[in-house]
Amino acid sequence: MSVFTTELGGRIPLSRVVIRPAKLFDMPDIVRIERISFREQYPRGVFLVFLENNPDTFLVAEYHGKVIGYVMAYLRPDLEGHIMSIAVDPAYRGNGIGSTLLSEAIERLIKKGARYIGLEVRVSNEKAIKLYERFGFRRIKRIIGYYADGEDAYYMLMPTDEWGGRN
Ligand SMILES: CC(C)(COP(=O)(O)OP(=O)(O)OC[C@H]1O[C@@H](n2cnc3c(N)ncnc32)[C@H](O)[C@@H]1OP(=O)(O)O)[C@@H](O)C(=O)NCCC(=O)NCCS
Repeated sequence: MSVFTTELGGRIPLSRVVIRPAKLFDMPDIVRIERISFREQYPRGVFLVFLENNPDTFLVAEYHGKVIGYVMAYLRPDLEGHIMSIAVDPAYRGNGIGSTLLSEAIERLIKKGARYIGLEVRVSNEKAIKLYERFGFRRIKRIIGYYADGEDAYYMLMPTDEWGGRN
């Protein structure tokens, strides 16, 4: 069993991390992780509506009964699977949990018929961009002033026929 060191020095075995669909009772943990992970936050109601509409592509990572990460993904009518948000509790980053969540979301979107997987990411978010590039996402365009604080986003896309499974 592989054991890795977290950014805060903890060590967790990735094989003990369970990826499962999010449930209503996970909301406080999800909102907590979102609050410490992003400068801009969604109103709480957005999570509830998203869960209602996308119950099988809103996923959480659970470790010893504790939610330590989540991914919100959905299939658009144009068959683009879109990653709306992904975050891992800072204490557990660098263990492959973000990659595992992303991978599971992509697999589920492909099963639903996604031809592309798309997402927006802050141009300054080098860590996330690196992760997405490792998964085969490419920067398609720069969206000027996409975020409320004026920062630009990259719109990144991966054709699902290039998806070869988990990176
Ligand atoms: C982006 C984010 C979700 C990644 O989550 P994560 O769990 O740290 O992701 P991973 O561990 O899978 O990959 C991150 C790094 O850990 C490394 N890693 C992956 N598996 C690993 C393992 N088993 N052991 C050690 N390191 C590992 C990866 O190589 C990667 O390294 P890098 O710095 O060279 O890119 C997380 O940093 C986060 O929540 N950020 C804040 C929110 C955010 O920016 N979300 C994206 C918005 S678009």
